[in-house]
This record gives sequence, structure tokens and C-alpha cells, in this order.
Amino acid sequence: MALLAIKKYPEKILKQKAASVESIDAHTQHLIVDMIETMHAARGVGLAANQVGIPKRVCIIDISLKEDNKPLIVLINPLIIEKEGIVEDEEGCLSIPGYMTTIKRAERVYVRGLNREGKTVEIEGTGLLARALQHEIDHLDGLLIIDRMSPIKREFFKRRYKKSLKDKKE
Ligand code: CO
Repeated sequence: MALLAIKKYPEKILKQKAASVESIDAHTQHLIVDMIETMHAARGVGLAANQVGIPKRVCIIDISLKEDNKPLIVLINPLIIEKEGIVEDEEGCLSIPGYMTTIKRAERVYVRGLNREGKTVEIEGTGLLARALQHEIDHLDGLLIIDRMSPIKREFFKRRYKKSLKDKKE
């Protein structure tokens, strides 16, 4: 097991659409184990493989930090097959540390993918789980929370973020 480095905005791999996993081999299993360790160490509720530099369609979600008794979810090649409603709530991202913003998401989603054993699973998510599923699948499509903002808000964010990075270096 190993902790992986989490890629931070504006690293290019975060903008890259991740490729489907063709076979869930030992390599994939190893990646999943390391991603779980990395997510827990960072106290995140989700992590996508491209956030740790691997452009493959693998993501994990663990909302048990916020809601008790929720199982860890591993999804390979996930796809949103249905969504309903719209809800706005605060969201952050391990790749944009220290930043929270309100994002509109579907209230309920149905996602189909493979679990770590390669079995097809369907997950229905509402609340935080629905939000996390959409956030992680966005990552696999090369989208960050800032891509879900209005253009004005995004420009404002970029300027402020660049300045904060510069201030850190000085
Ligand atoms: Co994120």
C-alpha cells in the first residue's frame, strides 16, 4: 500500500477524459487499494484515478465520514443512467484545496458500473451520495467543480487561485 500524490488544479491530467478500464487486473486492484488509502489520509469523500495521475475510469466514494454506516463504493467505468431533480449545495475538491463553492447537481442519480470484482452494479444515490457520484464521474470526464460554475464566477476564482498560489511561493 502506498499514499499517492493528489494532483492539484491546474495540472493538465485533471482536464483529461479518462479511458475505460478494459480488464480489472492486479494493476487495477493495486490502484484501488492505494486510492482508498490516499482518500482516507486526505479525509476526502471521493477520489478519481486521474486525481492521482492515472487517466483510467476508476473512482471511489466513502461518505461514512459524514454519514454513518455507509459502505465504501468502488466504481469502474461508471455511467449515469438516469437523473432527477436539481439541488444546489456546497462542494469542495481534494484537487482544489481550501476552496468551497455551491454547485447545482441532480438530486437523485442512478449509476451503473463495475465493482472491484468486475461485477455490474447499479447504485441509486440521493443527498451527499448523489453529489459525490456526479463529482467523481465529472473528474473522469475531465471536469472540475470550476467547470460547473458560471463563467464570471470561474474567472473570479481563477484570478484569486493564481494569486494564492503565487503568495504561497513568495
Ligand atoms: Co474532486
